[in-house]
Amino acid sequence: MIANDTLHWWQRGVVYQIYPRSFKDTTGNGVGDLQGVIDKLDYLQSLGIDALWLSPFYPSPMADFGYDVADYCDVDPLFGDLATFDRLVAEAHKRRLKIIIDWVPNHTSDQHPWFIESRRSRDNPKRDWYFWRDPAAGGGPPNNWGSFFGGPAWTYDASTGQYYLHQFCKEQPELNWRNPEVKAAMFDTLRFWMKRGVDGFRMDVIGLIIKDKDLRDNPPNPNAPANLPANDLFSRLLQVYNMDQDDVHPVLREIRGVLDEYDDRCGIGELWGPLDRWVKYYGEHGEELHLPFNFRLMDGMAWNAGQMRGVVDALEAALPDFAWPNYVLGNHDRTRLATRFGGQAQARVASMLLLTLRGTPTIYYGEEIGMEDVPIPPEKIQDPQGLNLGPERTRDVCRTPMQWDAGPNAGFSPAGVATWLPLADDYPARNVAALTDDPKSILSLYRRLLGLRRTRPALQGGSYRPVDVAYDDVYVYDRAVFAERYLVALNFAAEPRTLAIPGETTGRVLLSTHLDREEAVSLDALALRANEGVIIEL
Ligand code: GLC
Repeated sequence: MIANDTLHWWQRGVVYQIYPRSFKDTTGNGVGDLQGVIDKLDYLQSLGIDALWLSPFYPSPMADFGYDVADYCDVDPLFGDLATFDRLVAEAHKRRLKIIIDWVPNHTSDQHPWFIESRRSRDNPKRDWYFWRDPAAGGGPPNNWGSFFGGPAWTYDASTGQYYLHQFCKEQPELNWRNPEVKAAMFDTLRFWMKRGVDGFRMDVIGLIIKDKDLRDNPPNPNAPANLPANDLFSRLLQVYNMDQDDVHPVLREIRGVLDEYDDRCGIGELWGPLDRWVKYYGEHGEELHLPFNFRLMDGMAWNAGQMRGVVDALEAALPDFAWPNYVLGNHDRTRLATRFGGQAQARVASMLLLTLRGTPTIYYGEEIGMEDVPIPPEKIQDPQGLNLGPERTRDVCRTPMQWDAGPNAGFSPAGVATWLPLADDYPARNVAALTDDPKSILSLYRRLLGLRRTRPALQGGSYRPVDVAYDDVYVYDRAVFAERYLVALNFAAEPRTLAIPGETTGRVLLSTHLDREEAVSLDALALRANEGVIIEL
């Protein structure tokens, strides 16, 4: 239990992820831009979020839509320029919104001047900034690693007769973080943005930056699915030597040291892996990341109350006292909540879960209007993962343009413009303008949830305690700080449930996911409708 006045902004606040290509296009080229984000700051402020995380906007050939960075200290002309970015920071700060940017330390673009230098000759001073290796003894790639996006993790460069390493696209060569010059150069990129007022960084695949010193072969994965595409070499192996090495932690501590040169900045890392290893990224006493992203309610989760509770309880038990939890349910790499969990009713319950657990929530743009995966015809696929591993793997489905209104192009791009990905068919009804006017819409639910969270200290810093009830398809917990207590009850079942809450007699429903009741209730027979979640003041 933590009193709210001792919480940092990144503990108290709610993060909202913007995929800039897909948020708002102000230039009429079918792609969103930073001015578009500025234009929507009033909306974001009124929604009630506290911080924006912007996916990459750096100069980039866009082989992986900006996760291939050609210059860490500039803005791609597609999105604006540094002056636009500075205005965005100033305008956001005026509205008390923090700015978190994506930092992509594991790899650059093959068009980054560092790599252009590095590939020039074997004795180039930047040769060792990347991983260059001779072919294996019998020819072929130096080891057996596969790329996340299909094919080997190595590409042969005929001009110097060596292979370079890339665990994503071949246009994303990996930086050698054991080289002190690489570290120093990358640390300077953090300082560059902190000086411009950036409040935090979301660090892309941070667990990959240190690899096994000898780049040993990964062992085969005994549980690899039988029907993998032929080029999915990655899933056929266990990821033992290419990520999550013990000696990544000293580097994380150095990165934290750079963040700590400035006041109250926040480091968030994209990390997967088993709980006991994941938790180490907070550091031994909080000297690494503030928030290792927690994807445990997202990856591989069915719509199952017991499974969700199990994951939360295991996390709570694993966290040392100094470590602050966080929850991510969706992002630009995963399927939309309504699609994943079965429909709009489930998406509403999921939003209540996300916004009432103990820990910092991250909301992916469009979730507040219940956006669903948009089917992408094969010829319109843009994502390298979908192009290489097959249409069912494309991440484009969750990256489609934000739906602002019922007008042409959903108000994302001007009329007549071809948007970079197709719009959802349901946009004439599912859009910000229409749902703002509907007091029972999912958008109204998000506003209410965010408003409650902001004004009720127990929902921010309060303790979390799971409550056992007779049904395993209902997830119940309480949140408390001093005398202030709330009970959250989430019915995952598609049928009504009536529960007795042990030790409680009465309470008051503050909010239902159905947005139609605020009333005193008896807690020895709490009636929940199908797919209903409630927040009850005790
Ligand atoms: C992360 C990003 C993903 C990107 C990959 C390579 O997983 O979230 O979108 O493709 O890193 O940078």
